[in-house]
Amino acid sequence: MASSHQEVWQGGTVASTRQLTPEIRRVEIDVDSPIRVDPGAHIDVRLRIGETEERRSYSVVEASPDGARIAVSVYLSPVSRGGAAAMNALRPGDRVALTQPMNDFPLRVGAAQYVLVAGGVGVTAIYGMAARLKAIGADYRMVYAGRSRPLMAYLDDLRDAHGDRLSVHVRDESTSLSVPDLIDSVEPGTEVYVCGPIRLMDAVRRAWLERGLPIADVRMETFGNSGWFEAKEFTVRIPALDLETRVGPDQSMLEALEAAGADMMYDCRKGECGLCEVRVSALEGEIDHRDVFYSERQRSAREKMCCCVSRVVPAAGGSAVVTIVTT
Ligand code: FES
Repeated sequence: MASSHQEVWQGGTVASTRQLTPEIRRVEIDVDSPIRVDPGAHIDVRLRIGETEERRSYSVVEASPDGARIAVSVYLSPVSRGGAAAMNALRPGDRVALTQPMNDFPLRVGAAQYVLVAGGVGVTAIYGMAARLKAIGADYRMVYAGRSRPLMAYLDDLRDAHGDRLSVHVRDESTSLSVPDLIDSVEPGTEVYVCGPIRLMDAVRRAWLERGLPIADVRMETFGNSGWFEAKEFTVRIPALDLETRVGPDQSMLEALEAAGADMMYDCRKGECGLCEVRVSALEGEIDHRDVFYSERQRSAREKMCCCVSRVVPAAGGSAVVTIVTT
């Protein structure tokens, strides 16, 4: 196992929990060693899931000014990998192990304009960015898209804080976000920050490239349980290690390979850095690319995948088996 993060673990005590929507719960933690939390930061929490200890990443929604209390939001998806259930079970007074904040999605201060785009629970990463941009008097707007208002966390808070700078798009109200229209409306020199499901980020990236805008000005963060297809069990083989293991619907390929004893490289575990890349030497089924690392062309080549998030789904009536070479 390997990671390039300089991780510092510490303890924390759950201060409060609150259900924000039927699917999203806010958990506030008093950390043992207060530290500055910048917008876009996340923490990893070590959780006991069944017989094993696993780690999960959560965006820091807010932190107290002294950094002593942080708030994260936990999404309990229908295909939750067990971590959300463990987080949801936390109660005030419980102790947790967590990393210091890490930031793979930093907000760059100094752009002429900003557009922040949140899809669903992606709002948890965008929330703090909007607050920071407001605090420094930046020219920004925030776009928040969801399925229905009762499922959209922090909606009232955001409306109160950002007023007309916030636009809300709700699928059940037939006001779904048109990504091409949004990107068409962006002035050159604007920086765009997106956090949401893979389909949203993919649409933003396509529209951005079609407009010929610099890709460095669009920054994205995903959450690894969002894919193009429903997560199903599949099999992964590494002939060089004489290894074959099953990847359950509620675990990642990286987790399954680690559990089977493979020594894997990784960093973000969120489909962003590419460090967990494996080469595909044989494939039965289709790759469900869930990363934001590869280009469209790289994905369609079906030669590589980010095993921390991407999966294999069976072709109609067939099986799902991938044979890989670790790099
Ligand atoms: S570990 Fe970063 S993309 Fe997989």
